[in-house]
Amino acid sequence: MEKRIKVKDLLKCEAGQKVTAKGWVRTKRGNKNVAFIALNDGSTINNIQIVVDKTAFDEALLAKVTTGAGIRVTGDLVESVGSGQRVEIQASEIEVYGECDPVRYPLQKKDTSFEYLRTVAHMRPRTNTFGAILRVRNAMAFAIHKFFNEKGFVYLHTPLITASDCEGAGQMFKVTTLDLENLPRNKKGEVDYTKDFFGKETSLTVSGQLEGELGATALGEIYTFGPTFRAENSNTPRHLAEFWMIEPEMAFYDIRDNMDLAEEFIKYLVKYALDNCHDDIQFLNDRYDNELISRLEGVADTEFVRLPYTEGIKILEEAMANGTTFEYPVGWGTDLQSEHERYLVEQHFKKPVILTDYPKDIKAFYMKQNEDGKTVRAMDVLFPKIGEIIGGSEREASLEKLENRIDELGMSRRGLEWYIDTRRFGSVPHSGFGLGFERLLLFVTGMSNIRDVIPFPRTPKNAEY
Ligand code: 4AD
Ligand code: MG
Repeated sequence: MEKRIKVKDLLKCEAGQKVTAKGWVRTKRGNKNVAFIALNDGSTINNIQIVVDKTAFDEALLAKVTTGAGIRVTGDLVESVGSGQRVEIQASEIEVYGECDPVRYPLQKKDTSFEYLRTVAHMRPRTNTFGAILRVRNAMAFAIHKFFNEKGFVYLHTPLITASDCEGAGQMFKVTTLDLENLPRNKKGEVDYTKDFFGKETSLTVSGQLEGELGATALGEIYTFGPTFRAENSNTPRHLAEFWMIEPEMAFYDIRDNMDLAEEFIKYLVKYALDNCHDDIQFLNDRYDNELISRLEGVADTEFVRLPYTEGIKILEEAMANGTTFEYPVGWGTDLQSEHERYLVEQHFKKPVILTDYPKDIKAFYMKQNEDGKTVRAMDVLFPKIGEIIGGSEREASLEKLENRIDELGMSRRGLEWYIDTRRFGSVPHSGFGLGFERLLLFVTGMSNIRDVIPFPRTPKNAEY
């Protein structure tokens, strides 16, 4: 038997050779004498057409070749007379590996809505749309490593189980081996975590940043890329309970260097997608969002706006004075909602915006404090259709200021002594940011719900598979 050739490669092969393809049947059509099978094996959005001379095959065998069935086909690769493909396979052998009951198959033509497909997320990678999204996701993961590798950043593996709350928001999933039906208690009646697996209270991490800073202040420039967990009960199209985050952290970078890197990074990724995922992105563009490609090209060539938060608030207040209404109130000191972020990006500037110098009270303890005593050197990158895609800052390098801020927020210094040591021993200016991988994918694929750009989404009340 000929060696299997992937469909992606077959479509580029010259006609006039015997080949074997393996994959899943997308469709079968034809007439009394001839059948046309569209075969896909996940290597590309495109199918290879199989032409079957029905008189040469057993009827019972052909009856098993239905949508969804897993098959092998061997035959001659010939130039296609029909339009739509350059080459096709004239089948001489067909083997059915696995039949697919057309009635019970969860992927039916009649319901292909994203909502429905989420209920059969175990099968949806077989659809054209999710195949395209998952290939783009893979390409973006590779491009992220390539970008940092070319710049000499060290890929640092930070722990998923942690005893500290980096963002201070308390939205953490607990990790424990204690018997929840029979919890050990101390004299005060509190749960006795000294009896727990790690001897202390632990959770799944909300960010690898704190450990990332340890790496950056030793290796210079590092990045993390891993799963991140948030137990926030937000059922929005932009939040997952388990998502992937990329967190570069750089010694000797100030906030401006940090913004430059963030902008270069996103543009690199968008360009990489345009250059390397053409067929998949073209498909998504044609099928769902015919402005996708122009939006991607726009971002790849545009200089992002850089604007202090205080200026951003003025613009939003002016917009309200001129009749724009928002669902959530906005004024100096409030955290921006996605609708405000999108107003700035989509209505006002019509390009990505990096908003800086937020009020310290709405940002995390580690951010560098500005001289005004009110704001910190934070930076959020805001994107069309999404809002915040990156959050980052220059870090507070002064031991005294950092400790004061921790005390002011009523946080415990004890569990953070290891982190504070970076400021005690050879503290240097440094900065970093976090890019939400799925938010990036929303932008690059044009999808509008974050559940549709991760293979197996984890959201409130949903942990299937
Ligand atoms: O703004 P965040 O909370 O920043 C941090 O965690 C910092 N420690 C990053 C750093 O400076 N190293 O999160 C960073 C990004 C957000 O901008 C967003 O893109 C994404 O992570 N993100 C989420 N993505 C999906 N679901 C969620 N629940 C998310 N929460 C944050
Ligand atoms: Mg943020």
